[in-house]
Amino acid sequence: MRNRVEWRDATVAEIREIAEDVRYIAFAVTGAVPRFDPGAHSNFRVEINGQPANRTYTTIPAPPGQIAVAVKLHPQSRGGSRFMWALQPGQPVRLTLPENRFELSWRAPHYLLLAGGIGITPIYGMARALAARGASLRLVYAARSRALMAFADELQALLGDRLVLRDNAAGQHVDLAAEFAALPPDAECYLCGPIGMLEAAKSAWVAAGRPISRLRYEVFGDSGLFAEKPFVVDVLNRDISVPVRSDQTLLEALLGAGVDMIYDCQRGECGLCAVKVLERDAEIDHRDVFLSPDEKAENHRMCACVSRLSAGRATIDIGYRT
Ligand code: FES
Repeated sequence: MRNRVEWRDATVAEIREIAEDVRYIAFAVTGAVPRFDPGAHSNFRVEINGQPANRTYTTIPAPPGQIAVAVKLHPQSRGGSRFMWALQPGQPVRLTLPENRFELSWRAPHYLLLAGGIGITPIYGMARALAARGASLRLVYAARSRALMAFADELQALLGDRLVLRDNAAGQHVDLAAEFAALPPDAECYLCGPIGMLEAAKSAWVAAGRPISRLRYEVFGDSGLFAEKPFVVDVLNRDISVPVRSDQTLLEALLGAGVDMIYDCQRGECGLCAVKVLERDAEIDHRDVFLSPDEKAENHRMCACVSRLSAGRATIDIGYRT
C-alpha cells in the first residue's frame, strides 16, 4: 500500500468501449509505475466547468508502464465522467500512482466477490489475481442489463461456472442470504456496488452470523438516492452561506469558500469530513459508508465529501474547525 500521493504526467494510450456507457482508458505514465494490487485507485486532475478538480477511479490490470481505468458515463455526473469520456488518444493528463484502501487479505480459504454495475472494476482485478493464484472463489455480478456488464465475457472465459451473472432486466437478482449461507466458516466477501446493495449485504452478513471484519467493501461516491442538485449551507458561527453547485461536493464548496476542513479519503469512508446538521429544509442524501444506518436515520451529521442535500438549504456546524 502506498502512503504518499505521487502525481505524475501521463498521456492517453488507448480508449475502447467495453460495455454500454463504459470505456476502458489506459494512460502511458512518465517514469516507472510500481506494481499495484487489485482494488487500488488513482486520482485524476479533471476540469469541470472550467475549474480544476480531482476524481478517483479504480485502477484495473494494464500493460507495464500504464495505468488503466474503466469509466462509466453517468448522466447525473458532476462532470468527472464527462471529462474522462472527452479524452482523446495522446492527450496529456495528470494522475497519481495507485494507492489501495480496498485490499485483498490473501488469507481466506474462499472468497465471494460481489459486484453491482460499474462496481465490477475492483472486483475484476481481484478475480484475475485470485484465479491466477489458484484461490477458491465465486464471483456474483449483477447489473441492470447484460449490455452494461463490462468484462463479463472475459470473466466467463476465466472463471467458468465460478461466475454468476445476474441480469436485472431479465428478473435476476442476487440472493444474498443464500450466497452467504453457502460459504465456508472463514470465507471473506469483497463487495463493490451501489450503497443500497452494500446496506443489504451488511444486514444479510450480520444475520448470517458472520464477523463483519470478513465483509470488505467499497461503494460508488455518486450512488445516491437523489440526482445532484444545487443547495446552500449556512455555516454556524462563520456568518457565511456557501452555495454548492450540482457538479461539486459540499467539501469542495466549503474549501472553496475558505472553510478550514479536515478530510482524508474523499470517498465517504473515514468520517473525518463529517459536519453536524442543525437545520434543513430538504432530505440528506447519505452516500458514505462511515455513518451507521441509525446515525443516517437521525440526520444529525453528514459526510461532506460525498453526501449532499437533495436541494434547498441547511445550517451546519463545522465544530472545532476555524
Ligand atoms: S474525507 Fe473521508 S469520509 Fe469524507
